[in-house]
Amino acid sequence: MSFLQQPINLLVTGGCGFIGSNFIRLLLGDELPQMQVKSLVNLDKLTYAGNLENLVDVADDSRYQFVKGDILDAGLVTRVLKENHIDAVVHFAAESHVDRSILDSSPFVQTNIVGTQTLLDAARVAEVKRFVQVSTDEVYGSLGNEGFFTEQTPLAPNSPYSASKAAADLLVRSYCHTFDFPGIITRCSNNYGPYQFPEKLIPLFISNARNNRSLPVYGDGKNIRDWIHVSDHCKGVAKALWQGKPGEVYNFGGRCELQNIKLTELLLELLDKPKSLIQYVNDRPGHDLRYAIDCKKAETELNWSPEVTFEQGLQETVDWYLEHESWSERILSGEYQKYYQQQYGETLNSD
Ligand code: NAD
Ligand code: TYD
Repeated sequence: MSFLQQPINLLVTGGCGFIGSNFIRLLLGDELPQMQVKSLVNLDKLTYAGNLENLVDVADDSRYQFVKGDILDAGLVTRVLKENHIDAVVHFAAESHVDRSILDSSPFVQTNIVGTQTLLDAARVAEVKRFVQVSTDEVYGSLGNEGFFTEQTPLAPNSPYSASKAAADLLVRSYCHTFDFPGIITRCSNNYGPYQFPEKLIPLFISNARNNRSLPVYGDGKNIRDWIHVSDHCKGVAKALWQGKPGEVYNFGGRCELQNIKLTELLLELLDKPKSLIQYVNDRPGHDLRYAIDCKKAETELNWSPEVTFEQGLQETVDWYLEHESWSERILSGEYQKYYQQQYGETLNSD
């Protein structure tokens, strides 16, 4: 029986974060009957961005197991792979916020580069049958007003975050080339949806607007991002795992380019809040102007395409954060408080 036909033992790293938790919920649900897991181990260090609460609804599933640990711990990773007879790894664990990487790139180099290398070495020894490196379109750098990123676009990362992801991607590529390692790389545009840590644009602005705090728009607000609902990204990653070809790269995007200022205005409209909350602040150093993905390869080779319209997805996302105010508040009262103070010089207590 081939790898694709039988239920697999899967290791997910970083499953307590935003995309990882949505991915685990998808795989343990019944939306993808062709893609079955026999067991799923979630290895997560629970950094400020990892939250066990994100997976309370699957914690009792007999197929699911949580292991608290660091991907830099080679002994632990080796043990987890061996003891659970892991067939495949989907690697989400990362430091993921560009602004933090500008303040201090060291954890980005450690987790994103050295952590990926540690995982690759252990996965190679364990002879896993697939390894999906979940990466970002930011490794391609910045576009001008025209054009799209394809899988052939040369890597030209501009932030310490994207540089660390590009380095990890190149390690995966080199393992495929040198060791015939069954690695697959996925590169996705900006995700939005439930369980996103409220330091990223959409959940931060929803939370601020709700509490009548200002929305800090960097620079002139004309930077463009290509927004994709997290459920579409997760389905893409699942398809890359089961149907992708080792050694290949697949781009995923939402076909939804929007200037930050337009998105901010849309959010204010949905929340029925005034535009006077918009506050233009100093630009992010090295701020990439535009990201836009050409996802034809994923469409033709994986039979994937984004399904959630931005109109529907954004409304549902706003509703989710409004309904889960206590989730956001619990998160915001912790580690994030210190960081926010450092960034903006003001505290986060709602007024
Ligand atoms: P996130 O910051 O919400 O979650 C990261 C998770 O990784 C957390 O649960 C954290 O505890 C865990 N983690 C961090 N360091 C670890 C370590 N050393 N060992 C074990 N676990 C560790 O990130 P996210 O937004 O869910 O992104 C997940 C992945 O997807 C990342 O690799 C990111 O680069 C990529 N990605 C994100 C986006 C986006 O829009 N958020 C877009 C494209 C790609
Ligand atoms: P972000 O959510 O941090 O994702 P990324 O940097 O990975 O694209 O930011 C999305 C866009 O929003 C980006 O152009 C930076 C901008 N931005 C702001 O204008 N203000 C903010 O407070 C944040 C967090 C982001």
